[in-house]
Amino acid sequence: LNKDALRKIYQAKRHAIAADARQQAAMAAATLLIAQPYFSQSEHIACYLAYRDEFVTEPLIQAIWQARKICYLPVITPDSTLQFVRYDQDDPLLPNRYSILEPQNQQRKIKLTALDIIITPLVAFDRQGHRLGTGGGYYDKTLAGLRAKSKKPLLLGLGHAVQEAKEIPVEPWDVMLDGVITELEAACFIKYLNIKH
Ligand SMILES: Nc1ncnc2c1ncn2[C@@H]1O[C@H](COP(=O)(O)OP(=O)(O)O)[C@@H](O)[C@H]1O
Ligand SMILES: [Mg+2]
Repeated sequence: LNKDALRKIYQAKRHAIAADARQQAAMAAATLLIAQPYFSQSEHIACYLAYRDEFVTEPLIQAIWQARKICYLPVITPDSTLQFVRYDQDDPLLPNRYSILEPQNQQRKIKLTALDIIITPLVAFDRQGHRLGTGGGYYDKTLAGLRAKSKKPLLLGLGHAVQEAKEIPVEPWDVMLDGVITELEAACFIKYLNIKH
């Protein structure tokens, strides 16, 4: 199946998840994430606020703050890439052109290579670390070329277990996930995630 066909299938699966299951999943994923060594060793963590049916992140953001780490949220730039801006508790948020809430203080943006982890939403993922997004290619464009130079930031997909596909077609610009967090597991696709440094 091609990407468009897979998007339709996995968007429908994601849409069918009940509201209470979403909240349960969000709490379970947060508990799983904070137990990972790579989480303990991180300080600067980019997350997102759920748009439409995306995996809920409020418990995860709370967990980041509670662990005294610094949280960042994506802000869409005019060239359709993402910048990551610091988000502290009670910081004001304003909707962008998609009605997604964004922090306002652009002076608090962080360099990509200074981030330890980027948590991305997804429509589908597979065990090879392929990620299917909504089709905007935002994370692909933002992270293009970056991962070749350094292990940082770790790229983790966040989604429901039902969003796992057998195989997602990959195109040259697709960035690979280092791991995925679901309500059932924190899975690593690369070896160094399992190693304590
Ligand atoms: N590094 C890049 N530079 C320019 N355009 C890109 C880049 N990465 C992706 N794109 C564009 O984004 C579009 C969507 O990418 P795709 O991988 O299908 O979406 P998604 O990652 O959201 O599932 C592609 O058609 C491609 O042209
Ligand atoms: Mg892509």
